[in-house]
Amino acid sequence: MNASAGQPFIDLRSDTVTLPTEAMYDRIRSAPLGDDGLDGDPTAVELERFTAELLGKPAGLYAPSATMANLLAILAQVPRQDAILLGAASHIYTAERGAATFTGAFYQPIPDPDGALDLAALKATLASTKGNLKPALVCVETSHNNEGGAVASLAHMQAVHQAAQGAGVRVHLDGARLFNAALALGRPAAELCAQADTVSVCLSKGLSAPMGAVLVGPQATIGRARLLRKLIGASQRQVGIAAAAGLEALQSMIDRLADDHATARTLAQGITPVTGLRIRQPQTNIVQVDVAATGMNAREWEAVLRERGVLVRPWGPHLLRCVTHRHIAGDAIRAAIEAFAAVAARPAIA
Ligand SMILES: Cc1ncc(COP(=O)(O)O)c(C=O)c1O
Repeated sequence: MNASAGQPFIDLRSDTVTLPTEAMYDRIRSAPLGDDGLDGDPTAVELERFTAELLGKPAGLYAPSATMANLLAILAQVPRQDAILLGAASHIYTAERGAATFTGAFYQPIPDPDGALDLAALKATLASTKGNLKPALVCVETSHNNEGGAVASLAHMQAVHQAAQGAGVRVHLDGARLFNAALALGRPAAELCAQADTVSVCLSKGLSAPMGAVLVGPQATIGRARLLRKLIGASQRQVGIAAAAGLEALQSMIDRLADDHATARTLAQGITPVTGLRIRQPQTNIVQVDVAATGMNAREWEAVLRERGVLVRPWGPHLLRCVTHRHIAGDAIRAAIEAFAAVAARPAIA
């Protein structure tokens, strides 16, 4: 596929590029609305109730983004100057640490290879009294964005939960792609959520809603998060406009994530034989491609793939990230595989 010939790009940069479905637009048009800052927006209330029930928690809170849902979870559960123990490669640690300006908490990284916290390091840190830091929250992430969509086992999540509980510390699950993880494990999402006190889920990644996330957890925590949401100016008015698309996402878009996992596997299998590429075989919808042995770095690969109509994201000096989603069908994957093979076969790097 040639983008310069007027063909659309094959956009593998992220599942966040997914557009709302027609059913979402229909639902938005007919959604009952109210003032979420006064007596509540009925559609947002319904989204919060539905998500909490789906994930097996008492209460839910709509937030404009997953970043904000994570921030509210931390603000609601971590007193200033206490510590958050979280994966060194987690999204909260690597991409949301600006939030520390608000939280005043100390972010203590724990190694998390393959998306699973190093249990020995976690237990040692929970038990440590060094530095007068009191751990207040353990954060886990599944599927794990920076670890190529890796999914920790349920047994691992249970072990983390038990270690935290043993130390009297709560667990927050950054489940921006929770349903991808649940699908990979073949378990209901609520089973994963049972291993955490609070959970954030994103509606605008593979689920295709245009915006929004939901934080679920105990009534008192969510009540506190609701006040904090107002404090940071994110209490919105007829927010049912957005919540309606979120409801549609949760009610009709979860099962189809299996298609994204299948296209990710097809992509990975298709480019595995390409000379010089090292592929991390995907558990979900993210394919990481190590290009170190090709003689070109990730930025150079990004540029030459773009010329061939394929958009990917550099994820390190020699790492590319490709994410499959609803707009990536089989023929797009075939074209992407051809583009990778054609670039690798260029005389300059042969
Ligand atoms: C694991 C994880 N958590 C949180 C986020 C934040 O989502 P948003 O940018 O929609 O706020 C992301 C975004 O990629 C993510 O991958």
